[in-house]
Amino acid sequence: MKKILITGATGNIGMDVIKHLFMQKTEHQIIAGVRNIEKAKQLFKNYPNLNYTHFDFDDQNSFQQSLHNIDTVFLLRPPHIDNTDIYFKPLILEMKSKGIRNVIFLSVQGAEKSKIIPHNRIEKLIVEHQLNYVFLRPSYFMQNLTTTLWEEIHNNRLISLPAGNALFNWIDIDNIAEVAAIVLNQPVQYQNRAIELTGHENLNFKEVVSIINQQTTNKISYQNLSPFKFYSLKAKEGMDKTMILVMIMLHFLPRFQKPPVISDEYERITGKKPTTISQFVSREINKLD
Ligand SMILES: NC(=O)c1ccc[n+]([C@@H]2O[C@H](COP(=O)([O-])OP(=O)(O)OC[C@H]3O[C@@H](n4cnc5c(N)ncnc54)[C@H](OP(=O)(O)O)[C@@H]3O)[C@@H](O)[C@H]2O)c1
Repeated sequence: MKKILITGATGNIGMDVIKHLFMQKTEHQIIAGVRNIEKAKQLFKNYPNLNYTHFDFDDQNSFQQSLHNIDTVFLLRPPHIDNTDIYFKPLILEMKSKGIRNVIFLSVQGAEKSKIIPHNRIEKLIVEHQLNYVFLRPSYFMQNLTTTLWEEIHNNRLISLPAGNALFNWIDIDNIAEVAAIVLNQPVQYQNRAIELTGHENLNFKEVVSIINQQTTNKISYQNLSPFKFYSLKAKEGMDKTMILVMIMLHFLPRFQKPPVISDEYERITGKKPTTISQFVSREINKLD
């Protein structure tokens, strides 16, 4: 039995990874690395076999204890943390000194090509420090519709973004987490590989809104904004400035890029077809209608 530490455990991906590890009847000991153990215990009250440890990127003292006797780390970069030298280098050095065998890092599609995104630097740090790794590189989360974009959908029946007609590849977090759990259970089988995880659909926001509207009674619209208008709208709404810039980067840059590559890794690893947008909308209809 190995010990697996899950960082970002209480977030969208982490929670689903833990769900899939137990669904796959993992033989390993799973430890959620969290900032607030009491809160996490409430969140995971249906998982009696889950263990907890204090883990905080802002408190490097927490690294030593949370990595004690750990074999494999599921590493997630919280969206607001972008300084890799301050936050990730000390963690990776601690992993190295503790003899951690495997790191499964939740990266992003195209990380290897884009020097401006922190995932690129984190991947490099892991390779440079000769840790065994698996990089999961997912495309654009379907769940952005039910998380970051949800408030505007809910309040105004609108999605405002500087995305024009850019194509995004849409993936269900559940598909990512299922693969992550398979890899965490058998890291050696996937050792030192980057796995691109995508759905089968490249769609722009207009097309996605039209798919949503086929299933909702309360229709929504898509409004394309210039990056400046988007910035001032979100600043007025009180969104954190770094987050606005991340949103602009994520949605404006694809307008000048080639359509995302569609990968068959999910199907090869699980033997199943990835979730379609239409299936996702029908599963999340209570939130989207
Ligand atoms: N959105 C997309 O389309 C997309 C596509 C590809 C890749 N990604 C990548 O996916 C990642 C985000 O995953 P997600 O959606 O699961 O994130 P999320 O839901 O925002 O969860 C963030 C997690 O990080 C934890 N966290 C925050 N600050 C922390 C700190 N100082 N120390 C320790 N833990 C901390 C949070 O715990 P608390 O409960 O304590 O706050 C939470 O568990 C990002 O790296 C992003 O770039 C996103």
